[in-house]
Amino acid sequence: MLKNIRKTIVSAAALVAASLLSIQAVSAADAINGEKLSQTCLGCHGAPGLRNPGTVYAIPMIGGQHSEYIVSALKAYKDKTRSHKTMQAQASNLSDENMADIAAFFSQMEGNSRPSLVSAAKAKMGEKVSASCATCHGKIGDGDQTSFPKLAGQYESYLVQALKDYRSGDRNNIIMSGQATNLSIGEIEALSAWFSSQKGGLSAPETKIFK
Ligand code: HEC
Ligand code: HEC
Repeated sequence: MLKNIRKTIVSAAALVAASLLSIQAVSAADAINGEKLSQTCLGCHGAPGLRNPGTVYAIPMIGGQHSEYIVSALKAYKDKTRSHKTMQAQASNLSDENMADIAAFFSQMEGNSRPSLVSAAKAKMGEKVSASCATCHGKIGDGDQTSFPKLAGQYESYLVQALKDYRSGDRNNIIMSGQATNLSIGEIEALSAWFSSQKGGLSAPETKIFK
């Protein structure tokens, strides 16, 4: 009897140890698998300042972005609650596990963030009206609440586009639509200049000269 209990305890301990090991192994494997799955993505998200034909904004940086946000963005494209034909197509065949792996890969990418060069006057104006954003995104947009995207160092033109889209309803999000609805174009431009000129760990190679 005693022997059996001891045996059970030993095997339970072995199980715990084994599962701890496998958790570690899986998270390393996640990012490695994520890298394999991300080759097509890097053609766009790894190319500094690249714009899709016919668009005025740079393809967003996702290196160093919070993994939770990356997954939620991919899910929104997949279920078409976020519009963008290319990204909807990119996300359409990704399983939840694929998304988690891809997010692990991009989120752990070392920030080689080189903030956009922006008008200093605009950025200063943006700082003044950015207090309400700080609760969720952090003072300079590098907040650590992982469901809110990092904004620091993101392309200025992309931030402008995102805020205009929330304001017009082209991009739907109950929180951000409320935030953007009363912003003037001047405020949108100022806020985008402010956040994009901060150093926050978002990365795409050689981003210095691009906005
Ligand atoms: C042809 C270029 C292109 C390719 C390839 C591409 N993307 Fe995108 N991606 C974009 C553009 C443009 C946007 C911004 C779309 C919008 O306005 O919603 C975007 C947006 C995103 C976003 C949201 C970023 C944010 O800050 O909200 C994520 C996450 C993302 N892409 C991940 C991926 C992944 C993962 C892949 C590969 C499976 C991929 N993309 C492939 C062009 C591309
Ligand atoms: C209550 C929390 C909250 C506040 C306050 C807030 N945001 Fe957001 N923000 C979010 C969330 C959540 C998202 C992601 C929404 C989505 O999935 O489209 C987001 C997304 C964004 C994006 C898109 C980023 C990307 O990578 O696509 C921009 C730009 C942005 N916010 C700017 C701002 C600015 C500027 C302010 C202040 C005027 C602000 N936010 C205030 C929660 C907040």
